[in-house]
Amino acid sequence: MSAAEFILVEKRERVGLARLNRPKALNALNPQLMLELMGALDDFDADESVGAIVITGDERAFAAGADIKDMALATAVEMLKRDAIGYFDRIRRVKKPVIAAVSGWCLGGGNELALSCDMIVASETARFGQPEINIGVIPGAGGTQRLTRALGKALAMEVILNNRVLTAQEALHYGLVNRVAPLERYLDEALELAGQIAQRAPLALRLAKEAINNAFETSLTEGIANERRAFYLLFSTHDQKEGMAAFIEKRSPDWQGT
Ligand code: CAA
Repeated sequence: MSAAEFILVEKRERVGLARLNRPKALNALNPQLMLELMGALDDFDADESVGAIVITGDERAFAAGADIKDMALATAVEMLKRDAIGYFDRIRRVKKPVIAAVSGWCLGGGNELALSCDMIVASETARFGQPEINIGVIPGAGGTQRLTRALGKALAMEVILNNRVLTAQEALHYGLVNRVAPLERYLDEALELAGQIAQRAPLALRLAKEAINNAFETSLTEGIANERRAFYLLFSTHDQKEGMAAFIEKRSPDWQGT
């Protein structure tokens, strides 16, 4: 990938880390940033030395939403043709586990980005909201759907219709985030969690993630049938034979990702 302007990318052992890097605009998500982020995610997804991915911002903001200045004067036709929100769909296609490490503002499209990830580790200063109602629009990158599934109807209504901003502790209480850490630890905790996951059997991780995400897309019967097919499929992998042999031989498994 060519040098990115708004994304910083690094690898920490088996974890790929992508940092949103527009601090002066509170990491507002303009189309170039989203394009660069998707490029970084695609690269990590294709890289076999990466087992899990962390997306983060900085201490002040994960991201304060889509870039309002970039779209303030746009017409509907321009928005449709540009389809910057289409980038969000690509996050769903990432096969490896993705963790959002969130500190400070996590608003609008920023919250929708975090919700598109598989897990969220928050700092105690994180604030989650969908303030689009304040600027005469509604969430456009899945907020009305994912937040409602995550929080339930009543609270999602309050967040989206009346700009209720959730503290990190509230987000933990309502199941929006996996854990809350002190400000100086949240990124390390996200990296540690990602590091642990990245040590696990890659194909089982991939199919487990797919099966869980399926729970939001299909009927229970279909979801259970999908899960069962994935379970049986794993018996064609080296790692299933290795994992079960290692258990019986009381040793650690040596995953090959095959
Ligand atoms: N777009 C563009 N620029 C933004 C931005 C955004 N979403 N959020 C913050 N910025 C910019 C500000 O304009 C400001 O820039 P200047 O210094 O050039 O004026 C800079 O970031 C710092 O912001 P503030 O001075 O406002 O910082 P604050 O600490 O006083 O307030 C805040 C922080 C409460 C997050 C406030 O910035 C804010 O309300 N931001 C907008 C949040 C928002 O409405 N997000 C939803 C966007 S729409 C969307 O996301 C649609 C969708 O679903 C895809």
